[in-house]
Amino acid sequence: MPAPTFSLNGTDALVLVLSSSLIGCWWLDRHWHSRERRALPPGPPGKFGGLLGNLGEMAGFEPWKRLAKWGQVYGSDLVYLRSFGTGVLVINSSSAVTELFEKQSSFYSDRPTFTMAGELIGLDQGLGFAHYGPHWRMMRKLAQRALGTEAIKKYHGVQEDVIALFLHSLVEQPDEFAKALHLASGRIIQSVTYGFAVNTPSELYLHDMEKTMEMVTEYVRPGAFLVDIFPFLKHLPAWFPFNTIHKTAAAGRELLLRSSDRPFGHVKQLVKEGRAPPSYVADGLAGIYEGEQKGPEGERGVDVEYCVKWSANTMYGAGSETTYGTVIEALYLLALHPEIQARAYAEIEAALGSSTSDQFTVLERLPSIADRPALPYVNALVKEVYRYNPVVPMGLPRRSEKDGWLGGKFIPKDTLIIPNVWALSRDRVSGIPPEQFEPARFLEDHLPRPAVDPLTYTFGFGRRICPGRFLGDNSVFLFISGLIATFEISMPEGTDISFVPGLVSYPQPFKVNLVPRSEQIITAVKTAAMV
Ligand code: HEM
Repeated sequence: MPAPTFSLNGTDALVLVLSSSLIGCWWLDRHWHSRERRALPPGPPGKFGGLLGNLGEMAGFEPWKRLAKWGQVYGSDLVYLRSFGTGVLVINSSSAVTELFEKQSSFYSDRPTFTMAGELIGLDQGLGFAHYGPHWRMMRKLAQRALGTEAIKKYHGVQEDVIALFLHSLVEQPDEFAKALHLASGRIIQSVTYGFAVNTPSELYLHDMEKTMEMVTEYVRPGAFLVDIFPFLKHLPAWFPFNTIHKTAAAGRELLLRSSDRPFGHVKQLVKEGRAPPSYVADGLAGIYEGEQKGPEGERGVDVEYCVKWSANTMYGAGSETTYGTVIEALYLLALHPEIQARAYAEIEAALGSSTSDQFTVLERLPSIADRPALPYVNALVKEVYRYNPVVPMGLPRRSEKDGWLGGKFIPKDTLIIPNVWALSRDRVSGIPPEQFEPARFLEDHLPRPAVDPLTYTFGFGRRICPGRFLGDNSVFLFISGLIATFEISMPEGTDISFVPGLVSYPQPFKVNLVPRSEQIITAVKTAAMV
């Protein structure tokens, strides 16, 4: 009798490999009995005896609220969860964030590996997802130099021009505000990064940058790809049945390279010809060519030109959607709070308006960045928008590079760390409840103690704090003050608002009424938009 044969088709093999890995992870997790395991921060039990971990806690609608709640349930700033084999630490207090991301920043400034988006597509070459090391350090140096408070003064004009164009398009087509805001947020970043004219047609480069950003948002969701959970799957050959990993990665890589190489190549040529307008890329390349920074094979073998290209590529994804999300959130909150809008307008009119002979004040120009110090209530309003619904509610995740301890709790190496920015924004220092939308919580002369400044958490922390925060904050100020100066904003009765879920969270486009405040302001907007 012939010996029985045992053969597996492709699907069987895949299922077998996955299920044995899953069981392996679970077994290791259950049997890791050590002093460290007992000292892990508290957290909810995982589903199915820990087999699936706490994926449910981290997915779904507004997980940041659920994660903050777990902190209260366990009476702990730190909550520990599991997602398959990976430990996830959620930080719900600013003192713990400061301790890990600032005081112990050498070990908590790395990003986790995203196998599909980072390793296979190549997004880990950019500043946002690069691993902590010499390549990241050089990109960071370039970004900090180019986007510091002094350096960005040269972009004030670009920001003011883009916002004037945006407001003008709203006067003409108020129903298209979401599209116009999207374009304007992208144009600011594109002009600052590559020096392109503010009215450059979007098909030229913006389209590819937009598509890349959509890909990033979709691909870095937890569990977006099986290969992120089981990285060894990247070794499966392309012919393996149902294996789409290589095809997806190749399409992503092609898009990413197009969005980085084309605009960069264009500016590089202009720099060589000596006719590039100031921009992040032009200034970075000029620094290399003038020998100011060590050349292409510079510091510790880091290719500086490569760093200029890839840090530039990150700017659109990191700066455009965050600005858009913050401003659309502001528009929604202003429409819901006419009394706050009226107070902000009164401040703008009193500070920037011109007095007419009959003692009336007329506003005949848009606010500029130079006007910020004269507008304390508008500045407080900007802060309240950051605080009320933080646009990056769970920050960007980090990875612990070694085993560590905090307040007697153990943090294993390779833990994915989430700063719960939303939880930090619920501070009660001012005595005004956090659920209330109230800019006055930041006005020092109003209260014994103003609320914690959202600039300490909205833009991240420590060595990886957002390098575009000064530029982004100025854009948000110009958008909000420009909208209030130009329009009375209201919402039709019964308008429903839903939020975009994900890494960056903000209201989906909604119906809003934008009624110009006067003929004089329409003329001022038209004049300012003639760029
Ligand atoms: C309202 C606007 C913005 C918000 C709320 C925001 C928020 C953030 C947050 C939360 C992080 C993660 C920081 C961390 O890991 O601790 C970040 C990183 C980053 N942001 Fe922003 N950002 C904004 C605008 C901008 C702009 C305008 C730019 C560029 C021009 C920019 C460029 C970056 C870059 C390159 C990173 C990655 C830094 C690194 O990993 O070293 N952001 N941002």
